[in-house]
Amino acid sequence: MTPPAPSLFILLLLLLFPVIITSATLPPSPTPSPTSSPSHSSPSSSPSSPSPSSSSSSLDPKQLRALQSLNIPTSKDPCSHNATLCDSSKPFRHIISLRLSNCSSYVALSYTALKSLSTLQSLQLLNCPVTPIRFPPELIASLRSFTCVKSLHKVSGVWLSRLENLTDLTVSDVQVKTSGPYVILGRMNKLRSLTVSRANLTGNLPKYIHSNLTHIDFSGNQLKGSIPASITMLDGLEFLNLSSNALHGEIPASMGNLISLKNLSLASNSFSGPIPGSISAIPGLVHMDLSSNQLNGTIPSFISHMRNLKYLNLANNNLRGVMPFNSSFIKKLTVLKLSGNSNLCYNHTVLSSKTKLGIAPCDKYGMPMSPPPAKESSADDSSDYSDSDEDDNSRKKEHHHGPNKVVLGVAIALSSIVFLIIFLILCSKCCR
Ligand SMILES: *[C@@H]1O[C@H](CO)[C@@H](O)[C@H](O)[C@H]1NC(C)=O
Ligand SMILES: *[C@@H]1O[C@H](CO)[C@@H](O)[C@H](O)[C@H]1NC(C)=O
Ligand SMILES: *[C@@H]1O[C@H](CO)[C@@H](O)[C@H](O)[C@H]1NC(C)=O
Ligand SMILES: *[C@@H]1O[C@H](CO)[C@@H](O)[C@H](O)[C@H]1NC(C)=O
Ligand SMILES: *[C@@H]1O[C@H](CO)[C@@H](O)[C@H](O)[C@H]1NC(C)=O
Ligand SMILES: *[C@@H]1O[C@H](CO)[C@@H](O)[C@H](O)[C@H]1NC(C)=O
Ligand SMILES: *[C@@H]1O[C@H](CO)[C@@H](O)[C@H](O)[C@H]1NC(C)=O
Ligand SMILES: *[C@@H]1O[C@H](CO)[C@@H](O)[C@H](O)[C@H]1NC(C)=O
Ligand SMILES: *[C@@H]1O[C@H](CO)[C@@H](O)[C@H](O)[C@H]1NC(C)=O
Ligand SMILES: *[C@@H]1O[C@H](CO)[C@@H](O)[C@H](O)[C@H]1NC(C)=O
Repeated sequence: MTPPAPSLFILLLLLLFPVIITSATLPPSPTPSPTSSPSHSSPSSSPSSPSPSSSSSSLDPKQLRALQSLNIPTSKDPCSHNATLCDSSKPFRHIISLRLSNCSSYVALSYTALKSLSTLQSLQLLNCPVTPIRFPPELIASLRSFTCVKSLHKVSGVWLSRLENLTDLTVSDVQVKTSGPYVILGRMNKLRSLTVSRANLTGNLPKYIHSNLTHIDFSGNQLKGSIPASITMLDGLEFLNLSSNALHGEIPASMGNLISLKNLSLASNSFSGPIPGSISAIPGLVHMDLSSNQLNGTIPSFISHMRNLKYLNLANNNLRGVMPFNSSFIKKLTVLKLSGNSNLCYNHTVLSSKTKLGIAPCDKYGMPMSPPPAKESSADDSSDYSDSDEDDNSRKKEHHHGPNKVVLGVAIALSSIVFLIIFLILCSKCCR
C-alpha cells in the first residue's frame, strides 16, 4: 500500500508549495500605518531645557520649599525638571520660569509660596483648577508672561489687570468676569501678545489699545459692538482673531492700515456690508477667514492679486455674482471655501466644473444656474477646495490594501488546485 519513495517526495513538495507562496506574498504582520508614526515623534514641549548646568550652586532653599508646597517633585535637581527654568546666580540659583500642569485637586497657591517665587518671569498654569489668590507685589513686578489655560476656576478682569508688567498674557477656557476688555488692558503698557479666548468675555472692544501689540486673540467670547478705530491703528499687529463673538457692523475700511497683518479671522460674527477694498493694501496677509457673517456684494477681484494669501474662507455669507478667481489663483491656495453663498457662481468657461467649489456655474446673466449641485451644497467637506495632497494619500492607502487581497486570493486558488491534483493522483493510485 505504501507509495514509492520518489512519489512521496513529490507529494511533500506539492503540499509545501502553497505554504511557501502564501508566506512569501503575505505582508509581514500588520502593515505599519504611515499615519501612526508622526504622532509618536511629536516632541511635546521641551523648550524649557535646564539652564547652564555648569553652575554648581543649588536652588534657593526658600524656593525649594515653595516648590514642595506646590507638589512639584524636588528629589532630583529641581532646576533640571521640565517644569522649571533657573538662572545661574550664586550662591543660590533662582527659578525664573515655572509651569504647573495637571495639578491635583489638593494643590493650593499660598501667598508665602508665591512670595518666595518672586523671581519668576514666566508662570504657566495648565489644567490647574486652583483657587486664585492675590499675587504678592514682588511677583507682579517680576512677571513678564502669564498663561492660564483651564485653570484658576474663574478670574476677574481686575485681578488680571494688576499684572502690569506683562508682555504676554494668555487666558483660555477660563471664565473671565469683567465689564469689558478695557479693564484687563488698562495699565498693561508693555503688552505685546494678548489672548483671552473661550472666556465668556463680555463688553465692547476697547476704545484705546496701546500701540505695541503684535498678537490679539479674543476668539470665542461674547464681545459685541463694532470694530473700533483703536484696533485698526495697531500698525505692528500681525495676528488678529475676533472669531465667534457677537460683533456687527461693516468691516471698517481702515482695516487696510494694519500693514503688518498676516492672519485675520473675523469668522462667526454678524458683520455685514461689503468686503472692503482696502484689505488689498495688506501686503503680507496669508490667512483670511471672514466666514459665517452676513457680508454682501460681490467678491472683489483684488483678492486674486494678494500674493501671499494661502487660506481664504468666505463661506456662509450673502456674497453674490461671478466669483473672480481663475484656476492658477485657486491652485496657489491651500484652502478656499466659498459654499453657503446662494447667489454666488463661477464662470464655467473660465473654470472647469472639476474644481469643487460648492457653488453653481453662472448663467449668461452672472446668476447661479438653478438648481445648485445638490451633492456639493449638502456635504460640507466636498464643497471645500483644498490641496489634493490628502485625497491622493488616502487613495494610495486604499490601493495599498488592494493587491494584498488579490495575491492572497490567487494563493488560495493555487493551493486548492494543487490539493485537487494530489487528490487525483492518490485516487488514481488507489483505484489501480
Ligand atoms: C515632564 O516630565 C514628566 C515626568 O518627568 C512627564 O510626565 C511630562 O510629560 C513632561 N512634560 C512635558 C511637557 O514634557
Ligand atoms: C496633562 O494631561 C494631559 C491630558 O490628560 C496630557 O496630554 C498632558 O501631557 C499632561 N501634561 C503634563 C505636563 O503632564
Ligand atoms: C514693573 O517693572 C519695573 C522694573 O522693571 C518696576 O520698577 C515696576 O515697579 C514694575 N511694576 C509693577 C506694577 O510692579
Ligand atoms: C461660558 O458660558 C457658558 C454658558 O453660559 C458655559 O456653558 C461655559 O462653561 C462658559 N465658559 C467658561 C470658559 O466658563
Ligand atoms: C513700543 O515699543 C517701543 C520700542 O520697542 C518703545 O520705545 C515704546 O515706548 C513702546 N510704546 C509703548 C506705548 O509702550
Ligand atoms: C481663531 O480662533 C478660533 C477659535 O479659537 C480658531 O479655530 C481659529 O483657527 C483661529 N483663527 C486663526 C486665524 O488663528
Ligand atoms: C497663520 O495662517 C497660516 C496659513 O493658514 C497658518 O499656517 C499659520 O499657522 C497661522 N498662524 C497662526 C499664528 O495661527
Ligand atoms: C448689503 O446689506 C446692507 C444691509 O446690511 C444693505 O444696506 C446693502 O444695500 C446691501 N448691499 C448689497 C450690494 O446688496
Ligand atoms: C489668473 O489671475 C491672475 C490675477 O488676476 C492673473 O495674473 C493671471 O494671469 C491669471 N491666469 C490665467 C491663466 O488666466
Ligand atoms: C465668462 O468668461 C467669458 C470669457 O472670459 C466671458 O466672455 C463671459 O462674459 C463670462 N461670463 C460671465 C457670466 O461673466
